[in-house]
Amino acid sequence: MANPKRVLSGTQPSGDLHLGNYFGALRQYIALQEDHETVYFIADYHSMNSVRDSAERRNLCRSVALDYLACGLDPARSVLYRQSDLPEVCELSWILSTLTPMGLLERAHAYKDKVAQGQSADHGLFAYPVLMAADILIFNPDLVPVGRDQKQHIEMARDMAQRFNSTYREVFKLPEPFIPEDAAAVPGTDGRKMSKTYGNTIPMFAANKAIKKSVMGIVTDSTPVEDPKDTGTVVFQLWNLFANAEEREEMKTRAQAGGLGYGDVKKDLLARVLDFFGPMRERREDWEKRPDDLEDLLADGAKRARAIAGPVLEAAREASGLGRG
Ligand code: ADP
Ligand code: TRP
Repeated sequence: MANPKRVLSGTQPSGDLHLGNYFGALRQYIALQEDHETVYFIADYHSMNSVRDSAERRNLCRSVALDYLACGLDPARSVLYRQSDLPEVCELSWILSTLTPMGLLERAHAYKDKVAQGQSADHGLFAYPVLMAADILIFNPDLVPVGRDQKQHIEMARDMAQRFNSTYREVFKLPEPFIPEDAAAVPGTDGRKMSKTYGNTIPMFAANKAIKKSVMGIVTDSTPVEDPKDTGTVVFQLWNLFANAEEREEMKTRAQAGGLGYGDVKKDLLARVLDFFGPMRERREDWEKRPDDLEDLLADGAKRARAIAGPVLEAAREASGLGRG
């Protein structure tokens, strides 16, 4: 490949992956490894703003690594590292914070929302966009794939890069958010956006029983079996994620004809979910049995990440007159 674009993204360790995370983000992120230089990290420094238990943090971090590997991250093609294995980001975070106006951070969603709820925020939460900017700028990436909710943070990182470049000299590339167009907006079992916050998820790697419970719990209306069904409703939207164009057409015809029960659609959806994620689950279980290999993989990821990030940080130190010179 001539000049592969560098892609960077981070994932906060926050628990069980669900269909929304996969079809709305992870699937697209991992696909980028085919023709890009991809770097992904587990944002454990960021998790310190919410997770206050050390064992829980370690477990959650391992879980993110397993999820990425299960979903197809190829360590030969992508770099996967744990954020805290590259503490250099904290130094860059400090450098950038000296060029970041309070007003900019006061407008950041995470902080604003907390204050609006009448809760007091820690400095870590207030400074979160600066750490995130450091995560990004230290790799000089071309694209940063993120969900829509993170767009503001990428814009802030651009702003900080610009301020540094104009104050000292051109060191940082201005990052671009990349919101994959084919990312599906996945509805939850209650019809709202699928989200851990709403407790309406279909988890990918939970026990079959738990997956069954959430699929069977998808809300449906009371249209009698013999009547035609609207294929725009949640159960069909979810089913469509696992069907090809031909199957979707066929399902539409059956739904319009009447005589199709929601229970049957759910049963078929459950079979498809288990089938689709089965091989990924096996891969996950296989890695799970080899914690030392997983740690080796992350250590190798940190080494490769450092090889890219080290020179960028050095340039920033040099440009701003830090160290011996
Ligand atoms: P949650 O809402 O469950 O806490 P996160 O905010 O941790 O999920 O989401 C992680 C990633 O998954 C984000 O990039 C987000 O855009 C994507 N994502 C989460 N839920 C959905 C959904 N229902 N549809 C599409 N993408 C989603
Ligand atoms: N803040 C992001 C989230 O909550 C995670 C993240 C941290 C990130 N640093 C990043 C994403 C750098 C992209 C680039 O989802």
